[in-house]
Amino acid sequence: MNDVMLDKMTGGDKTAITRPEHVAIIMDGNGRWATQRGLPRSVGHKAGVEALRRTIRAACESGVGYLTVFGFSSENWKRPDEEVSQLMSLLRRFIRRDLAELHRQNVRIKVVGGRDGLEPNILALLSEAEELTGQNSGLNFVVAFNYGGRDEIARAAARMARAVAAGELTPGEVNEDVVAGFLDTAGIPDPDLVIRTSGEQRLSNFLTWQCAYSEMLFLDVYWPDFSDSHFQAALEAYGRRDRRFGGLEPVSAVQG
Ligand code: IPE
Ligand code: IPE
Ligand code: MG
Repeated sequence: MNDVMLDKMTGGDKTAITRPEHVAIIMDGNGRWATQRGLPRSVGHKAGVEALRRTIRAACESGVGYLTVFGFSSENWKRPDEEVSQLMSLLRRFIRRDLAELHRQNVRIKVVGGRDGLEPNILALLSEAEELTGQNSGLNFVVAFNYGGRDEIARAAARMARAVAAGELTPGEVNEDVVAGFLDTAGIPDPDLVIRTSGEQRLSNFLTWQCAYSEMLFLDVYWPDFSDSHFQAALEAYGRRDRRFGGLEPVSAVQG
C-alpha cells in the first residue's frame, strides 16, 4: 500500500492515535483473490494463512491486547466438501506448524465457536493450543472457528436454562453481564474495532452480541493482500473515531 492510500484511510495525520484494546478481523476474500489470478480457491486460503501470520506479528508489535480472527463460520459447512476439507487441513497444519512459535512469542490462544461435531483430531489440536499457551501474558489471540454469533447466543441460552433448572441462577438475576458470562467470549472485552476485508459490508454472523458498539472498518482489499501497513492504517483510522455509546459526549476510544 502506498502513502496516498494510507492518507486516504487515515486523513493524512499519522501522529498520536488511541489504540484499540481489541481488534477483530473478518478475513474475507481468499477465494476471489485466487480466482482473479486464475488459481484454485485453495491457493487463496493458503495465501490467507500467510496474511494471518503477518497480522499476528503486527498485532504483537502494535501492543493491542486482543486479536480475534474469523477463521471458519458455522455457515461455512455449506461450501463444497472439498473446500471444507482443505480449510480443515489448513487449520491442522497452521496449529502444528505455528503453535510452538506463537507460544515462544508469549501469545495466549483461545478458540471460540461450537465444538460439537468437530473431528477428534481438530478438537485435540484446539485444546492443545489453548492448554499450552493458557498461562502466556502477551497478545490474546482468539480464533473464531465453527463460530456463529447466533449459535453462540443459543448455546449460552441453553447453558443459562440449565443453570436455572439446577437452581444455580434465577431468572431475575439474568442481565447483560450474566449473558455475556455465558458466551464463549466470557472474560474477553468487546471488540473496539472490527475490520472486514474483501469489500463486503456485513458481519456474516460474527460476534453478534459483542459488536453492539464496535467501530467497523470495511476495506477494499482481499485478505491475502492485507499487510502490516493496512493494519497500522486501521489502528490510525480507529483513533480518529468518536465513540459515544448512546451518550452525547465522545468517550475515549479505549474502553474500560
Ligand atoms: C475467507 O475467504 C475465508 C473463509 C471464509 C474460510 P472466502 O473463502 O470467503 O473468499 P471469498 O469471499 O469467496 O472471496
Ligand atoms: C465470513 O465470510 C466467514 C469468514 C471470514 C471465516 P464468508 O465469506 O463466509 O461470508 P459471506 O458468506 O460472504 O457473508
Ligand atoms: Mg467470503
